[in-house]
Amino acid sequence: MPELPPYDVYDLGLAPEGAARIEWADRSMPVLARIRQRFAVERPLEGYVIAACLHVTTETANLARTLAAGGAEVTLTASNPLSTQDPTAAALVAEYGISTYAIRGEDNDTYYKHIDAALDTQPAITMDDGCDLVNRLLAQRPEQALRVVAGTEETTTGVIRLRAMERAGALRYPIVAVNDTPTKHLFDNRFGTGQSTLDGVIRATNILIAGKTVVVAGYGYCGRGVASRAKGLGADVIVTEVDPIRALEATMEGYRVMPMLDAAPIGDIFITVTGNTSILRSEHFERMKDGAIIANSGHFDVEIDIPALEKLSTDRRQVRANAEQFELADGRRVVLLADGRLVNLGAAEGHPAAVMDMSFADQCVAVEWLARNAADLEPKVYDVPVELDAEVARLKLESMARSIDTLTSKQEHYLSSYDIGT
Ligand SMILES: NC(=O)c1ccc[n+]([C@@H]2O[C@H](COP(=O)([O-])OP(=O)(O)OC[C@H]3O[C@@H](n4cnc5c(N)ncnc54)[C@H](O)[C@@H]3O)[C@@H](O)[C@H]2O)c1
Repeated sequence: MPELPPYDVYDLGLAPEGAARIEWADRSMPVLARIRQRFAVERPLEGYVIAACLHVTTETANLARTLAAGGAEVTLTASNPLSTQDPTAAALVAEYGISTYAIRGEDNDTYYKHIDAALDTQPAITMDDGCDLVNRLLAQRPEQALRVVAGTEETTTGVIRLRAMERAGALRYPIVAVNDTPTKHLFDNRFGTGQSTLDGVIRATNILIAGKTVVVAGYGYCGRGVASRAKGLGADVIVTEVDPIRALEATMEGYRVMPMLDAAPIGDIFITVTGNTSILRSEHFERMKDGAIIANSGHFDVEIDIPALEKLSTDRRQVRANAEQFELADGRRVVLLADGRLVNLGAAEGHPAAVMDMSFADQCVAVEWLARNAADLEPKVYDVPVELDAEVARLKLESMARSIDTLTSKQEHYLSSYDIGT
């Protein structure tokens, strides 16, 4: 066996299973594979130490392999205590030689101990999913933060936190908001979260979705995906929102829109995906039907007020893997999935590889761009340059054997003129 990199994973013996799963995911990640081949030749990340705090899944493993092919020295740490796939973590270490710190179900102390181990590598570039790594770095290692060259952020919640840091003057280096680029959030958040969230609910419960009333809290990029997939499976979908434009959009899409208080007694399954806190709380649990199922697909486990549910309950017990039943004083039962953490990662396998292909291609081109340009950037949140985003979309279409039209010179002239009318 080759010398292993530093690691803390559940069981290295799971590596062969993990490697098979990583290779299976790789088959659906042709854009990332193209970038990996190019990186292996051009080595644009030679000499860069990268600390990546991401969900440790098969797709992330293929991202880490791509960064390593580009010459980077990568350390991976989990971005959620419940999303790690232990076989994947083992294979990263034993088969691909990538330093990995992640154990499914790790407690909070271990979670931060792992982030600290990644920070101990003195990264020049950080990759985050939810901003826990950057937050830890800025709060506990302000001197070290000044030596970081640049970073990327994968998800909506992380970008929200980074923009708040930027406003407060607390950000110390430039970070690209990968989440905000169209080839990420229009596909990953919508089609990825849509399908995998329903997958998580079904795996945890084996419930028939057809004929059920599914309440989706939040009609953003993720919520649109979750609502449309639930509708496609035959559910009667209710949407709750605080934004009037998105509520209107949901209404015209054919969903019933109402406050959560009104939806609480009607819903069979509740899915929060707002990026906000305390969406389901006591007043809602008190009105729910016996057997109501509650799940979250937003980044943090704060969307369902679990302490409030505990307080109302006289008994709680595990009824299936990833499904815990709370019995309320009047005998009604509420079933919480995946501890209120991202249900698509806790109870299923996260987004399918075909969609992460684009998100992680975005990560790669963003890191490559940062390696070239970070010296000219300020400590702000930056977008992925549009031409890089368009290139990722072009490669994806090519991999799907789809071609599109190109503008004729007459059309180009027309679109850039203002004097041609009726
Ligand atoms: N499960 C996953 O794999 C996955 C993937 C991508 C993003 N996310 C996370 O999902 C969350 C949502 O992401 P997004 O891209 O859809 O964000 P978004 O900003 O597009 O949408 C969030 C929506 O929630 C609404 N909202 C806020 N407070 C609300 C409340 N009290 N009641 C009802 N609606 C409310 C907002 O008005 C907005 O329309 C974030 O935490 C993000 O990080 C999860």
